[in-house]
Amino acid sequence: MEILHVSAECYPMAKAGGLGDVLGALPKYQEQAGHTVKVIIPMYRTRYLYRKEWELVHEGRQQVGFYSFSYSVIRERSRELGFDLYLLDINGLLDRQEIYGYEDDPQRFLAFQVSVLDWVSQWSHRPDVIHTHDHHTGLIPFMMKYAYAFRDRLQHIPSVFTIHNAQYQGWLGWQHREWLPAHDEWKSGLIEWNDQINPLAAAVKSAWRVTTVSPSYLDEIRQRSNGLEKLFEYEKGKCLGILNGIDADVWNPVTDPLLVTNYGIETITAGKMANKLALCKQFGLDATRPLIVYIGRLVHEKAADLLPEAFYQCLQHFGGRLNILLLGSGDPGLQTTFKEMSNRYVGSFSAYIGYYEELSHRMYAGADFLLMPSRVEPCGLNQLYALRYGTVPMVRKTGGLRDTVTDMGDPGGFGICFDQASVGDMVHAVGRALELYESDRVRLLGMQEYMMGFDHSWDRSALQYLQLYKSIL
Ligand code: ADP
Ligand code: GLC
Repeated sequence: MEILHVSAECYPMAKAGGLGDVLGALPKYQEQAGHTVKVIIPMYRTRYLYRKEWELVHEGRQQVGFYSFSYSVIRERSRELGFDLYLLDINGLLDRQEIYGYEDDPQRFLAFQVSVLDWVSQWSHRPDVIHTHDHHTGLIPFMMKYAYAFRDRLQHIPSVFTIHNAQYQGWLGWQHREWLPAHDEWKSGLIEWNDQINPLAAAVKSAWRVTTVSPSYLDEIRQRSNGLEKLFEYEKGKCLGILNGIDADVWNPVTDPLLVTNYGIETITAGKMANKLALCKQFGLDATRPLIVYIGRLVHEKAADLLPEAFYQCLQHFGGRLNILLLGSGDPGLQTTFKEMSNRYVGSFSAYIGYYEELSHRMYAGADFLLMPSRVEPCGLNQLYALRYGTVPMVRKTGGLRDTVTDMGDPGGFGICFDQASVGDMVHAVGRALELYESDRVRLLGMQEYMMGFDHSWDRSALQYLQLYKSIL
């Protein structure tokens, strides 16, 4: 099969979160399973772009509304990622350093999608499947079927749409519908939800199949999905939950070049301690105490707003018995709060505000516990990385966290789970972590060895996607 993934992110070229990780790994595993896989994302001006060699493969012209532009497509020459990575450039729209966060994001991603379809419709052959991800590429399944410029060539190609996060839907005022290429107006209901253009809803209605990144999240979005609950109820017949995997080559404590010391199951205690010592030294923490970390976006869906009060209470109740280290960026108010807390609780609390890939690896390795109190977690990759690095996940039971972590109080359990995204539940979970660390090291080691033995690589889930494609070919 020939599979084309269209996305806004792909690690290591462009990553803002788990979407980037998935697009950097799933295609590689699909290629290893014997298929031809291509990924196309916008040509942001990231470091990876300037470090690699690229060849020009296509140039074309398109327009969004009255804005006409030329675009180009380049391909990474060495195929070092294990699949073909293509970048699409549009001067003035995509040539930016950041992935998201610009006022004209709706135009940027619409221009990207239109140009991708223009490029594919000029291929001398057809890909077997076009797989798009999240709302930035959500209008593609609709345009493949109903845009006059593309439908003759593309309407018979199966489209799969994966929802990594249904909170963000890419809403656009209805008055902007002339930005879309000319299409069958009778079908314009497919792009509408609550009197707006809703690219996520459009994809759910128009794609041949829809997947979520965990089975539990698929159940949850029928109850709670930022206004799309009914839509997911209507469309449940074409939806499937496929749990994300991890890139077991990139996330491997035995070989990870970013770690201070590499380690495996046999050397877990010494290996983790060496990494913990280095981290604690860097952040002025005490390596004799347990180290609890948070890594992630500082946003409401991750319950980051509850962290200051939860950390404050933990430091009051358990002060002197633990260290907390946070790596994250997002809400400016929270960023300031965490910087202030670092100054106030020197020796027990520290925070690195910003995005720092290398540090995240060292934290998964050096930490004893990883806290994820998410209100919403479609899958979550952090807890899977934690498992691989022998770090006990402390998670709220939701979405993919529910599907991947079993509480240590349950049969076969290896993590700490709680029900509510609340300060009380978090403080209680930290209390359980301290109890385990201080009073039952043998059990802790047993849990670490057990979790490091899990295979959460993409092997299994990549096959599930391939089976899904086959079912609609
Ligand atoms: P989401 O995509 O919702 O942010 P995931 O758990 O799927 O959540 O993936 C988050 C990814 O982003 C992980 O690879 C995590 O290590 C990484 N990450 C998040 N915040 C940071 C940060 N500040 N610095 C480095 N890596 C980060
Ligand atoms: C989204 C979700 C996260 C998921 C990631 C990759 O960012 O918030 O839970 O792991 O996508 O699918």
